[in-house]
Amino acid sequence: MQFAVFKEDIQGETRVAAVPDSVKLLLKNKHSVLIQSGAGLAASIPDAEFQAAGARIVPEAGELAAMADCILRVRPVSTDDAGQLPEGKAVIGFLAPLRQPAIAQVLARRRMTSFSLDAIPRISRAQSMDTLSSMATIAGYRAVLLAAEHLPKFLPMLTTAAGTIRPAQGLVLGAGVAGLQAIATARRLGAVMEAFDVRPAVKEQVKSLGAAFIEIAATENLEDKGGYARQVSAETLARQQSLLHERAKLADFIISTAQVPGKPAPRLLTRQMVEDMKPGSVVVDLAAESGGNCELTQAGQIVRHHGVTILGPINLPATLPLDASRMFARNLATFILEITNEKGFSMDWNNEIFTETCVTINGAVNEKRRTS
Ligand code: NAI
Repeated sequence: MQFAVFKEDIQGETRVAAVPDSVKLLLKNKHSVLIQSGAGLAASIPDAEFQAAGARIVPEAGELAAMADCILRVRPVSTDDAGQLPEGKAVIGFLAPLRQPAIAQVLARRRMTSFSLDAIPRISRAQSMDTLSSMATIAGYRAVLLAAEHLPKFLPMLTTAAGTIRPAQGLVLGAGVAGLQAIATARRLGAVMEAFDVRPAVKEQVKSLGAAFIEIAATENLEDKGGYARQVSAETLARQQSLLHERAKLADFIISTAQVPGKPAPRLLTRQMVEDMKPGSVVVDLAAESGGNCELTQAGQIVRHHGVTILGPINLPATLPLDASRMFARNLATFILEITNEKGFSMDWNNEIFTETCVTINGAVNEKRRTS
């Protein structure tokens, strides 16, 4: 198949859906790759590197769209974007069909075949294709660097001629992929860490990274079959907030990552909790785009409240464009090989990775996909 990678011209997007290594992998498997001229520049990948890997550089977006069998996208595809995609072609990207169910009909009307990367099942076999995990890893790492940048104090303990500096105290809320990477990064920088998650299964992972785990006994089962968290009851949330209130008072920085698929982010930090934090402390809310874990978060903004800085960064992976593109593109190429064969898309409806990620096929909505 002929895969096309466009320059993702939207403001703030620096990543690209292919890198020379992923091009080579696709070529080795009898596919070809077309790259719009300059598509990799913001990620420090010049056209010449793509060319050397065997990709063909195409100057114009229109020409590229006409030549392509399948478009590869880093940037999430909104329902409006889907309406602009070239008719009769295929697209692979973040389509979020659970959050925006109308996208399937739009893609079907455009007679498209489409696969959504955010629907890849969380099974061991699919780990090497999981772009969501890769992007969460970057967000967790970057969140700690942001906290360090905004803190008025060091992260590590220092013994200096001017006396001993105590290490910063960090709290991570939600110890999934991003949260665990945040713990690991903050520990490398010398902070003392603790973490909380509703899924008890993460306790050992948190401890193995050298952080303390905050236990809040739940009366309900808070992990679903896919390994994701469930939404907690109002009673459990109130109990969590009251314990976290005490821990937040001690923290120099909080990194919150708590998410529940398809639902607004749980509100773990209230205004009162922020007001009771130490002056100069920092909250980095990675759930900003899905409503925020902190009541005061504003997506894409820095809020200052009672001496506390609250950051609601969006698209952190784009702030590390080279490695973000490498991770994304390698995951994507592995996924492409999983869902294609020498004739095109494999149509292997017994393969749950194919069935769960396929949103439309030749203009028909895939009804076999799980929709809850
Ligand atoms: P996520 O981004 O959906 O959520 C982040 C974290 O927030 C999760 O750990 C979740 O339990 C936690 N959370 C939700 N509600 C909360 C609340 N009220 N209070 C505190 N914490 C709350 O999750 P992510 O990081 O994308 O993955 C979740 C899990 O899925 C992983 O830890 C792993 O076990 C599994 N996974 C499996 C993969 C595979 O096998 N292919 C790949 C990636 C993840």
